[in-house]
Amino acid sequence: MSRAACLLVIISLMSPAAEALDNGLALKPTMGWLHWERFMCNIDCDTDPNNCISERLYMQMADVMVKEGWKEAGYEYVCIDDCWPSHQRDAQGRLQADPKRFPGGIKKLADYIHSKGLKLGIYADVGDKTCAGYPGSLGYYEKDAQTFADWDVDLLKFDGCFMNRALLGEGYINMSKALNNTGRPILYSCEWPLYEWPLKQPNYTAIRETCNHWRNFDDVFDSWSSVKSILDWTAAHQDIIVPAAGPGGWNDPDMLVIGNFGLSHDQQESQMALWAIMASPLLMSNDLRDICPRSKELLQNKRIIDISQDSMGKQGYRTAKGNDFEVWEKPLSKNRLAIAVLNKLETGGPRGFNIGAAPGWKICGPQCNVTQILPQYKEMGVQTQQSKIIVSVNPSGTALLTVTPISSDFRRLHKLNWQGTFVRRKHTIL
Ligand SMILES: *[C@@H]1O[C@H](CO)[C@@H](O)[C@H](O)[C@H]1NC(C)=O
Ligand SMILES: *[C@@H]1O[C@H](CO)[C@@H](O)[C@H](O)[C@H]1NC(C)=O
Ligand SMILES: *[C@@H]1O[C@H](CO)[C@@H](O)[C@H](O)[C@H]1NC(C)=O
Ligand SMILES: *[C@@H]1O[C@H](CO)[C@@H](O)[C@H](O)[C@H]1NC(C)=O
Repeated sequence: MSRAACLLVIISLMSPAAEALDNGLALKPTMGWLHWERFMCNIDCDTDPNNCISERLYMQMADVMVKEGWKEAGYEYVCIDDCWPSHQRDAQGRLQADPKRFPGGIKKLADYIHSKGLKLGIYADVGDKTCAGYPGSLGYYEKDAQTFADWDVDLLKFDGCFMNRALLGEGYINMSKALNNTGRPILYSCEWPLYEWPLKQPNYTAIRETCNHWRNFDDVFDSWSSVKSILDWTAAHQDIIVPAAGPGGWNDPDMLVIGNFGLSHDQQESQMALWAIMASPLLMSNDLRDICPRSKELLQNKRIIDISQDSMGKQGYRTAKGNDFEVWEKPLSKNRLAIAVLNKLETGGPRGFNIGAAPGWKICGPQCNVTQILPQYKEMGVQTQQSKIIVSVNPSGTALLTVTPISSDFRRLHKLNWQGTFVRRKHTIL
């Protein structure tokens, strides 16, 4: 290795993005289930007892997660979103669960979830009210943090509705401290940048010090246009947000909607592949009690989950686009690379893409070992930089591959980009 290259290694090892929130959590992107996109604010337990926001819903989800391989695949957090509380705080000013829908209370629910070897997430808001109009935490940060800790809650999703934008950062930071002061490690999921972007560019150094993950952009809907808009936003802001991600803190592009109604199977594969590439939290919002076997298999695909959970903890990003294709790449441990090729043309049939056109294919000099994971598993064997491998990608589908360099001196050839920090660069035009 040359002296300059050696220096580069040292610099890149010494300067991780920024300090992450030091609560020992979210060292890999969080995996679990979150009720919002699928069950929203359904509080009508009289006519829809199976789907309303009630303790029963989370208990049933936890049961299924254990019985049907979800827990084993890595999905761990069972998360409550908005609409769980009573509209009134109790006599001591504490939040309380709606007594009709959560007759056992949250502590009992947490005990149940823990008895299954899973973790419980809850939801609150930095402002006066939650987005659905339930009591907000402004003025009650210490009290609410302590209440959640007393209930043995493991994760807090903290929304940003009904908050003076000028105090937003202060509010998120104060709650982070309040959670820390309880002494219970509680994973802290924020929406700080989402609510700040309309005003100014968020300070991701401060956000990473404060939160374990943070929403940047709109809520995901059960539609391809929604998933696409999230990918477009992420690529457009990747120079700003990608360097902020790493063990302890992640960009959160919102829930996986795989297994619902709005995405074709190819689109579901695209969401799964790209959420893994983006090192996103993998929080499913679907009905695990009734999910199609193909969606289940996709969500439990170990090879894709391994890309998401890779120990190096680097967020991947879009490296090339053109001809209605996008290439996204994520550096993995052991000098490997994951490459996703998204076909954005929503007409016609499968189109071929020469994988050699992916910028990261460089690591194939002199040789590499290639495995295709999506759309189907295929060992492509040892290839060279000159190999012409055409992968077939369906409209709005994604081909996902991993590439392992076979070479002692690939570092010299590849200049360490994949090991170092995020490299700002112009997109390659395909
Ligand atoms: C609180 O913060 C300190 C200092 O950053 C850290 O060492 C400690 O583990 C944190 N505790 C919890 C419960 O998050
Ligand atoms: C945050 O905490 C500081 C120090 O206690 C306090 O002055 C400030 O008002 C708090 N801000 C919010 C939004 O709670
Ligand atoms: C961003 O936040 C960090 C950490 O809190 C702080 O040191 C830095 O000065 C802030 N940057 C700007 C531009 O405000
Ligand atoms: C290439 O990868 C496949 C799948 O992981 C593995 O079975 C095979 O042994 C590898 N080949 C080489 C030459 O490393």
